[in-house]
Order: sequence, then C-alpha cells, then structure tokens
Amino acid sequence: MNLTPPSRPLLLVFYFQITALFFPLAFVVYKEDTSKSVLCMHPLPLETLTFVSGNKIKLHSFLHSSFLMKFMVFLFLLVLVFPLVAAFATNFSQEYDLTWGTDRVRVINNGELLTLSLDKDSGSGFQSKKEWLFGKMSVQLKLVPGNSAGTVTSYYLASQGSTWDEIDFEFLGNLSGDPYTVHTNVITGGKGEREQQFHLWFDPTTDFHTYSILWNPQVIIFYVDGTPIRQFKNLGSTRAPFPNSQAMRIHSSIWNGDDWATRGGLIKTDWSKAPFTASYRNMSAQACIWSYGSGAYPCSSSSWLAKELDGPSLERLMWVQKHYMIYNYCMDPKRFPQGLPLECVAKT
Ligand SMILES: *[C@@H]1O[C@H](CO)[C@@H](O)[C@H](O)[C@H]1NC(C)=O
Repeated sequence: MNLTPPSRPLLLVFYFQITALFFPLAFVVYKEDTSKSVLCMHPLPLETLTFVSGNKIKLHSFLHSSFLMKFMVFLFLLVLVFPLVAAFATNFSQEYDLTWGTDRVRVINNGELLTLSLDKDSGSGFQSKKEWLFGKMSVQLKLVPGNSAGTVTSYYLASQGSTWDEIDFEFLGNLSGDPYTVHTNVITGGKGEREQQFHLWFDPTTDFHTYSILWNPQVIIFYVDGTPIRQFKNLGSTRAPFPNSQAMRIHSSIWNGDDWATRGGLIKTDWSKAPFTASYRNMSAQACIWSYGSGAYPCSSSSWLAKELDGPSLERLMWVQKHYMIYNYCMDPKRFPQGLPLECVAKT
C-alpha cells in the first residue's frame, strides 16, 4: 500500500502560491519592430539581457504589460512549475510504505511534510521500501505539542524475523510543560534491555530538530541536531553482540504507550486532546542498499562508513550524558542479577 499522495487541488493551491511569488521577477521582453513578444523570466538587472538577433530590445516591467502578457507568463510558469511540484510530491510514496493507520498518515505541503496521528482507535506508521546494511539515517521531527502524555513517537531501524536487530529512537510524551524523554535502545538477535534515556536541551515540540542514527561496522551513534548522545560499540562477537549481519528498514510510528511511557505509566493519555500529531520532514538515508543476491553493500568510500567519534565529539557526548541522561541500563545492576551486560563492563 502506498502513502496517499496529496490531492490535485492541493497541488494547484501550491502552484498558485509559487506563481504569485515569481510575478515580481517576471519581465516581458519584446522586439520593438514587430511587437511579437518573447517571454522570459529574469531576476537579474535588465541590462544583462541581450538578443543575438540584433533587434533593439525594450523591457517593460511585467506589471505594465497587457493582460494577455500576464496570462502568457502565467501559462509559462504553469508549464515550468507544475512538473517540479508533482515530482516532489511523489517522493514519499516512492520511498515509503504506509504500515498502519490509513488516513492517519498524511503527506501534505506538496510532499514536504508528513504527519502521523494517533487517536483512540489507532496509531499510525510507515516504513521504508528499501533495506540497508549500515547507513546514516536522518529525520527532522516536530513532536506532539501540548499534553502528549502517554504517546510514543518512534523512529527506528529494524530487521525482520524472531532474532531481529533493531536500533531505536522513541520519544515519550509528557504533560504540557514537562519534558519529553528520548528513549534509545539497541536490540540484537531479538534481545534488547539496552535502554538509555535522555531529556533534551530544547523543546522538541515547537520546531523541527534532526535525529540521526549512524550505523556502521564499528559503532552505532545516536545524534540529536548533530550532537552525539549515545554510542554503542562493536566489541567483537566474542565479547558482545553487535548488529552487523541483518539488513534493516527505517520504521516510524506513533502509538499509545500509556501503560509505561510517561512517568513509568502513571500518567495516562488524555483522549480529549486527540488526535495527537507528530510531523516529519527531510528524511534521508545515506546508506548501503542491501542486495540479497551478492550480500554486497557497495558504498565503501562513504565517510560515515568509517566514522568513529573523535576526541571533541566524545567530549560532547560526555557532556550530554552528564547533564541530560536520565537512565542508563549499564548503571542499573539490580535489573541484571546475573551481572551487567558484557558491553557495560568491557574495557574498550
Ligand atoms: C515527564 O516529566 C517528569 C517530571 O518532570 C519527568 O520526571 C519525566 O522524565 C518526563 N518524561 C516522561 C516521559 O515521563
């Protein structure tokens, strides 16, 4: 199933806006002798326009041109702009499949923006058509504003099957004025319990912010606005598991998690505030497309593939962990009576 593309009328509205924007830049160029018109759009100083024919050219401000002229410029723009708009709008449906929630997933603003909604009947979600072994995936997200308690908005990578791998960003909503929690996890072979949670140094509901997952053979790094907040290193398969053999898809969803999400489940979703809507834009994946036939991932020269945190980045990571980390499984020994997971105790 595809994401619903924006409706034709919506595209038209957008087109008219663009046209209005271009009007002041449009000038009419005509040959004085014949008064046969040549149209061109030109934002540069008028003197820069010349004609090979040698005819003297006069430029009239578009605003002083006849109605016919205006109409022709209009048609010209229609031809120019419309295909661009249409191409942009189909982007989401080319790259992503709707997974649940039907019309609660909406592609709006001509494909620039995608929104996911949650109401009492259902949440919603989508996933990428492609799957990758390693990559740097990013999204700009604006989270559910106001009272978002009980809601969970997620952006994660996951493979399939009962021994799946997964790299999670989950955003746990809160009462108005109380901070969102960013919940991260790494699941290998179907086993997780590697949670780290953070508060943010900004309100994630008023603006778009960039959340990225870098996943390469050495390390997984979670970034917020380019700042690393967590790393999960590959210590070698004999010491701790690391997801490096199963291809993953990008998934995203919004759902009701009020049995655990907000203050451990104490605060429930207030359905009178539904629908709860999170907005997505600029989703990108610099990644190795997994080819089943060869098992190959042809992207050996990409910078993210060799990336590890350098000194200054590590310092920023430590700064975030010191000031904004609110939970770390590695510091929760009572959860692991048999001993902390290997990656927590391993010397790197
Ligand atoms: C919600 O706000 C409370 C109080 O500030 C805070 O302890 C908690 O971490 C916040 N986030 C969630 C998801 O409960």
